[in-house]
Amino acid sequence: MNRQVLLDSRPQGAATVDHFRIVESPMPEPGPGEVLVRNRWLSIDPYMRGRMSDAKSYAPPAEVGAVMVGQTVGDVVASNDARLAIGETVLTSLGWQEYGVARASELERVDTSIAPPSWSLGILGMPGLTAWFGLFEVGQARPGETVVVSAASGAVGSVVGQLAKLHGCRVVGIAGGERKCRFVVDDLGFDACVDHKAGRLADDLAAACPRGIDVQFENVGGAVLEAALRTMNRHSRIVMCGMIAEYGGTEAYAYRGLRALLVNRIRMQGMIVFDWKERYPEARRGLAALVAAGRLTYRESVVDGLENAPRALLGLLEGANFGKQLVRIAP
Ligand SMILES: NC(=O)c1ccc[n+]([C@@H]2O[C@H](COP(=O)([O-])OP(=O)(O)OC[C@H]3O[C@@H](n4cnc5c(N)ncnc54)[C@H](OP(=O)(O)O)[C@@H]3O)[C@@H](O)[C@H]2O)c1
Repeated sequence: MNRQVLLDSRPQGAATVDHFRIVESPMPEPGPGEVLVRNRWLSIDPYMRGRMSDAKSYAPPAEVGAVMVGQTVGDVVASNDARLAIGETVLTSLGWQEYGVARASELERVDTSIAPPSWSLGILGMPGLTAWFGLFEVGQARPGETVVVSAASGAVGSVVGQLAKLHGCRVVGIAGGERKCRFVVDDLGFDACVDHKAGRLADDLAAACPRGIDVQFENVGGAVLEAALRTMNRHSRIVMCGMIAEYGGTEAYAYRGLRALLVNRIRMQGMIVFDWKERYPEARRGLAALVAAGRLTYRESVVDGLENAPRALLGLLEGANFGKQLVRIAP
């Protein structure tokens, strides 16, 4: 039998474990051109909260009653296509389930010689690519500039800050709590990190950025973005990568201080990583080279068991993760 986690209903307000349902279903069988994959790692990402809702977005919602959407890394255990042999490790979009069938042409082989397979869901996968294109293409970060990154210890933020350091920028993180802030400075090598839970965010951020902010890599939104606006320089850039503070399903944040955009000629640009799909190989090569050279530090936050995937997602939305959130489906 195959175990799956379905989206059971759409939340009105905060999401809970009751919006998911775990079911057992017959093992799927691959048809011509298809393979059967045993999922080992499931990526848990903030966008999944958006997919639980049917509000208009950049991607269609997850269907109620269907397997919850998500990327996995797994092993091919049966193959009806010459392109993929049994035992190969692949990146899939099979979602929250132990096994799944996919067309071989839609799967990507994972190069396990560079890093552990799970890294292709994090630093060598979608979050790493987001960091790369967001920082260099949208943020246009230049050496010597000050780059601020929110959710700094997380999957995207940790890569943004390290890339910006390697690029010669002064880098300041924003993270929740002393432990995460210490990691951001001591392990990731940021110049400073501000604790957004300490209650003085705008003042602490201004103190940590004596030459102002040139690039705000925004992963959080809400009060965090509002605080950053007070310290941003003329002709600075805001990379609107994520607004996790607003994913809770409550009312939209009422921003104050947007006049800073006008007086400082700030460019604020939203980004969705898919827009660079054609250029993924270039960024993957760049990230893989840095990983191979030992120049990037990477941390994972692992929850065991498919049945705990809902809890992992709800925890991520509240900062319970410390590093890239994954579910280990099988050892
Ligand atoms: N645009 C794109 O193409 C794209 C692609 C990937 C990800 N993203 C976005 O990038 C952001 C980070 O994603 P990720 O996968 O790297 O997640 P992550 O940073 O690993 O985890 C989320 C972190 O957000 C912080 N957070 C949660 N709620 C918060 C709140 N109310 N106020 C302040 N901080 C809060 C928490 O860190 P602390 O404990 O430090 O507060 C939490 O650990 C998300 O907004 C996501 O939607 C966008």
